[in-house]
Amino acid sequence: MIDTSSPLVRPRRLRSTPAMRRLTSETRLNPAELVLPLFVREGTSEALPITSMPGVVQHGLDSVRRAVTDAASAGVGGVMLFGVPESRDAIGSGATDPDGILNAATRVVAEEVGGALVVQTDLCLDEFTDHGHCGVLDALGRVDNDATLERYREMALVQAASGSQLLGLSGMMDGQVAAVREALDGAGFIDTTVLAYSAKYASAFYGPFRDAVESTLVGDRRSYQLNPGNRREGLHEALVDIEEGADIVMVKPAGGYLDVLADVAAVSDIPVWAYQVSGEYAMVEAAAANGWIDRKRAVHESVTGIRRAGADVVLSYWAVELAGWLNRGDFA
Ligand code: PBG
Repeated sequence: MIDTSSPLVRPRRLRSTPAMRRLTSETRLNPAELVLPLFVREGTSEALPITSMPGVVQHGLDSVRRAVTDAASAGVGGVMLFGVPESRDAIGSGATDPDGILNAATRVVAEEVGGALVVQTDLCLDEFTDHGHCGVLDALGRVDNDATLERYREMALVQAASGSQLLGLSGMMDGQVAAVREALDGAGFIDTTVLAYSAKYASAFYGPFRDAVESTLVGDRRSYQLNPGNRREGLHEALVDIEEGADIVMVKPAGGYLDVLADVAAVSDIPVWAYQVSGEYAMVEAAAANGWIDRKRAVHESVTGIRRAGADVVLSYWAVELAGWLNRGDFA
């Protein structure tokens, strides 16, 4: 019988001093594993606040230059650029215009920090279409998968030519990884890396992002993004993308999908990333602004949880701020 007056096993030993806790920590965060998403808006040179994402802004071409320089100094691994165009049309022409805001911003950012971190771009049509869908529509108003792949191929070439080193395929069209890989290789962009947003769920937590990109979405994305209740399907999507030649797979959102993340991480032989999305950011910011939560600890803990579940890299709107804390040794 176990003598309860003196436990034989005392797990608290490993938590007894700060030095012991530091030594036995299983998950450590490093600035290099963080990627900062950035919004660049056409027609502004200075930063404009985003109401639903306090602390995040829509950049102009001047302010984004400073933001990426700060990101590079903080040691983050990369920046992911999103464009906010002034005008939109049915096929998202701005996405493939070499002078469209995303491509113009990519050239600026690549010139500024292309050697210091990985310059990444969102490859999706939703910011550029007037109906707000991630693809082009057929005569019945449905998202036309294969016609969209043609647009993604064109986008890939323009983004690569603009200096993007890593393309974030976030549209959830079937066959998008293979289509983009083939287009890139055919044009000689053999080193341009493909990040597949493999398990991207139809999530309410993208709400603030839609403000950030001034989305005009009509309807919803449930015919192409995953059903939040589906775990097996998330894994399936990742395996398909690996088969199609993805360099990196991603799960998104992160916090509510840690089981899917762990599933993918358990079988993937390529890097697994996760996107801590706008709604995850906004929830912590709102609670902190009300004094209901310790903001700094909540930020650190939320990203730690995502890393612990299996993400090698985390896209987070807190990337630079968190990197700053890590560089100072605030959580050591
Ligand atoms: C699509 C895209 C979205 C996000 C990233 N890429 C929006 C969507 O699918 O509706 C959301 C990111 C976030 O909420 O932070 N281009």
